Amino acid sequence: AKKVTPPSLIARKESGHRITALTAYDYGTARLIDEAGIDCILVGDSLGMVVLGYEDTLSVTIEDMLHHARAVRRGVRRALLVVDMPFGSYHVSTEDTLRNGIRLLKEAGAEAVKVEGGMDQVENVRALTAAQIPVFGHIGLTPQSVLRTGGYRVQGRSHAAALALREDALALQEAGAVAVVLEGIPREVAASITARLRIPTIGIGAGPDCDGQILVFQDLADLSFRPSPKFVRVFSPARTLLRAGLEEFRVAVENGTFPADSESYHMPSGVPVDVLT
Ligand code: KIV
Ligand code: NA
Repeated sequence: AKKVTPPSLIARKESGHRITALTAYDYGTARLIDEAGIDCILVGDSLGMVVLGYEDTLSVTIEDMLHHARAVRRGVRRALLVVDMPFGSYHVSTEDTLRNGIRLLKEAGAEAVKVEGGMDQVENVRALTAAQIPVFGHIGLTPQSVLRTGGYRVQGRSHAAALALREDALALQEAGAVAVVLEGIPREVAASITARLRIPTIGIGAGPDCDGQILVFQDLADLSFRPSPKFVRVFSPARTLLRAGLEEFRVAVENGTFPADSESYHMPSGVPVDVLT
């Protein structure tokens, strides 16, 4: 299987072959996803919510991202490894953005970074691209904006807002972004943006007309422990499976049927067991 690269993703858009993407935060999950032939693995800052148990993504640090990205890196061979820049790591200065982006590449093996925002991120995207760091944009519902927006709501529902999103997407492309994540926007808006861009769009809650789709692994596996938005489909009902197995383990230990004799080690034959007494 050939390594996925930013140019190969752009070629996929041209050929009409849809792009697949999932999040991962640890070695084992990354291996499962990579071995399933998924094209992009994102170490998302959704880490904060689905793995670390925070209310939102704002507390996630660059150290958190480095730690989890390094674990994921060890499990990925074919997929393109994209790592989110967390809140605060690209909001202070261009210099600081570059320093943090470079850390994600050099210390964790990221092959691209992702930043939330449109027009306001053009300078960052240009600077990262000039430093040879591939950048994914991310517009629409941007979870790092939750304090300003006051909640997670579908974006781009008015004509003006839809046009602004399309301008954001074009500006990111012009600045050098290699792909754009479209989150929580009407399918019609995502379709229009996708048709206008040369670089691929990866949708989440943005309908079926994007060039690719991404889901949070814990949403796909029913392991998120939060109410699922409309766009989530559970492809692997792992929570039900795990809960049943956990209860079986408890019962088997409590009633003495685990471990069985076949799951126990024995002294070699001929060694008198009475030496142990
Ligand atoms: O952090 C994340 O999981 C993301 C995806 C939902 C795109 O940014
Ligand atoms: Na994210």
